[in-house]
Amino acid sequence: MQFGHFDDANREYVITRPDTPLPWINYLGCQAYFGIISNTAGGYSFYRDARLRRITRYRYNNVPFDFGGRYIYLRDEESGEFWSPSWQPTRHDAQDYSCRHGMGYSTIGSTFRGIAASTRYFVPLDENLEIWQFTVTNHRQTPATLSVFSCIEFCLWDAQDDATNFQRNFSTGQVEIEDGVIYHKTEYRERRDHFAYFACSLAPAGFDTQREAFLGPYRGWDKPLAVERGASTNSVAHGWSPIGSHQVKLALQPGESRQIVYLLGYHENPRDQKFDPPGSQTINKKTVKPVIAKYLQPSQAEAAFDKLRAYWDGLLGILDVKTPDPHTDRMVNIWNAYQCMATFNMSRSASFYEPGIGRGLGFRDSNQDLLGFVQMDPARARERILDLAATQLPSGGAYHQYQPLTKRGNNDVGGNFNDDPHWLIIGVSAYLKETGDWSILDEPAPYDNETGSEQPLYEHLQRSFRYTLERLGPHGLPLIGRADWNDCLNLNCFSDTPGQSFQTTTNKEGKVAESVFIAGLFVLAGKELAAIAQRRGLPAEAANYLTESAKMDGVIRQHGWDGEWFLRAYDNFGHKIGSKECKEGQIFIETQGFCVLAGIGLEDGLAQRALDSVRARLATKHGIVLQQPAFSEYYLNLGEISSYPPGYKENAGIFCHNNPWVIIAETQVGNGDAAHDYYSRINPSAREAISDVHRCEPYVYSQMIAGRDAPSFGEAKNSWLTGTAAWNYYAITQWILGIRPAFEGLQIAPVIPQSWPGFDATRKFRGVTYRIHVKREGPGNRVALSMDGKPVQGDIVLASKGQTAVSVEVTLT
Ligand code: GLC
Ligand code: GLC
Repeated sequence: MQFGHFDDANREYVITRPDTPLPWINYLGCQAYFGIISNTAGGYSFYRDARLRRITRYRYNNVPFDFGGRYIYLRDEESGEFWSPSWQPTRHDAQDYSCRHGMGYSTIGSTFRGIAASTRYFVPLDENLEIWQFTVTNHRQTPATLSVFSCIEFCLWDAQDDATNFQRNFSTGQVEIEDGVIYHKTEYRERRDHFAYFACSLAPAGFDTQREAFLGPYRGWDKPLAVERGASTNSVAHGWSPIGSHQVKLALQPGESRQIVYLLGYHENPRDQKFDPPGSQTINKKTVKPVIAKYLQPSQAEAAFDKLRAYWDGLLGILDVKTPDPHTDRMVNIWNAYQCMATFNMSRSASFYEPGIGRGLGFRDSNQDLLGFVQMDPARARERILDLAATQLPSGGAYHQYQPLTKRGNNDVGGNFNDDPHWLIIGVSAYLKETGDWSILDEPAPYDNETGSEQPLYEHLQRSFRYTLERLGPHGLPLIGRADWNDCLNLNCFSDTPGQSFQTTTNKEGKVAESVFIAGLFVLAGKELAAIAQRRGLPAEAANYLTESAKMDGVIRQHGWDGEWFLRAYDNFGHKIGSKECKEGQIFIETQGFCVLAGIGLEDGLAQRALDSVRARLATKHGIVLQQPAFSEYYLNLGEISSYPPGYKENAGIFCHNNPWVIIAETQVGNGDAAHDYYSRINPSAREAISDVHRCEPYVYSQMIAGRDAPSFGEAKNSWLTGTAAWNYYAITQWILGIRPAFEGLQIAPVIPQSWPGFDATRKFRGVTYRIHVKREGPGNRVALSMDGKPVQGDIVLASKGQTAVSVEVTLT
């Protein structure tokens, strides 16, 4: 069952009924001003940091779901009837409801009693504001007299404090209203130099800024008293809950349309110019007024929208593929790339499942996100890498998370997640391969943001690698610390106290529990770092990295192989985890995928055996589960993983993030059929037809799909902000389609299904457009290349200086 359909030509997903199983959301903004918006106009906005600069309020986990949004009410002045064209909050039975989620915008509307209305929401490039283009049309035979009420609820900036500190917050709210523009200035009088504003292009007949005045006592968003009565109260918020609402009166002839432009924005003033006149308490609006005046003009709003479209045309033009599989094309060309932008911007901070107040940017997560993002905006990727490096600790370890606004490491979570530092090597390597910009390695970056501690980025990579060498356990495998990639495998935690954080509670010394996963990651990072060192003119150092990497490969074979698959770890007692000897959790996906991906066991068949075991024990029709058998009880020595009921999250859920590791591993053993088959099982577009089972958005990946041990097998959760986005993009584009940036040029080594006759692709790489045509002439993966008609040795192409476009013919035999 479906709740809508894809419109690929417009790069939109069109939701055709409002009661989706869960709110299906989209992101507005891609630089500094952001919002999330659901298919019924729920959601909120923030500037840079969803915790520290929340602009509008949202109530997570409300009943019903998804309250707080960018609401518009229409009131028929003759009948007194009112409704919301976006369905929520009034939930009237409207006709022709549709929500078009597109690239950085959403258009939501419907028709009620002959009045069609829809709103397109987007954030213009390079501005800290959002535009709502509201259009209403009278399809009746008779004139219509309408009132249009807008409404947003302001957040008192710090979303955590806003949701908890009522003894103070009920007394701090302040607004100004000038020329119909509502300015939210809570705390501006003291330490803030920023304010929000809400403006409307038609002269309002009235306004409200005090929530209780607008809603009326004991009423919700579905029945505001002001709307019911048809009259705003012109309330001025003092304390309590400031909102922004305008009432606009319209008379529409039959067939007539009108547009209203609304602006919701964020603005900062220089500290010494906050007030106008100086010495007063009135906001200085000199610099914001021109911005407001500009975008309230419908033509300027439209021009800004066109610019946004052109921006996305450019981004999505970097890689465009045409394969025999429409689900592959749609994800690669549109939605997966789009999701990679969202994960880059948000990390794991703000979604329908991440409340924006918990995690900031994760060190491990953000480095992996680069794999799917770097080609889109290398300059921002570069900045991100340097920000991440600045939260590395002198030990080579790293803060697990940092706040995007302050760029400071998060002390509550701290470090000692022993996989973290290696992801920096993986991220930097991806950047170098994409851009060829080796200068980044000389860029100074501090440790722990300490001024004076700056060292070239390259030294950060050296320390990352050394970090593990200095932390080896009894078998010579890396000590796990608080956790490795699997945040829930907490082998030093031993928590039996409710409420303790599994990630930060450490009751063991941490000198015994080892991770085979980190070992695999180390092998890969060692190879990447060696390649970097070699090209930096440090052959001895490069050789050393290769030696250490090979040594670890040996240790994995000796102590990390269980006979038919790779072990997962050793616990605090030195007992095996992920072994046939275990009662539960005998085989884990992470090490099968990652060890093979790192090249371990490719020559002697261990890799193939590990993958056979995955197929036999972990693969399901909805994707590959994380481990089997699921943990049926809580194991003190394992931590959070065994706290989840079987089939959910890390306890044998289909954790979509690591499925692509197996997909890549399958390409490494040359099995394109298996790789693409696994890819398709979790491809959201391919799952659209079972939206009633999958339940999350069919246009983006979710972090997890319930595994076969769960009652809701096949049900997705935690959509949008997941490493799944980058890893799947990377797996399909670089390993199955095989179009892979390499240090020396663009490598082309497809491992596609046998039944595919080939495919076409356009890839912009280091300023050159590569038009790639792949033709299958035999059943294998052997590649013969020619560029502009001339045969090329090997599988790497690089256009000559001055060329802007080349065509590459690829023959597979
Ligand atoms: C979440 C975390 C990620 C972690 C994964 C597995 O996706 O964001 O850092 O690797 O869970 O626990
Ligand atoms: C929880 C989640 C896990 C996530 C972690 C981040 O443990 O289950 O997926 O990675 O929190 O702190």
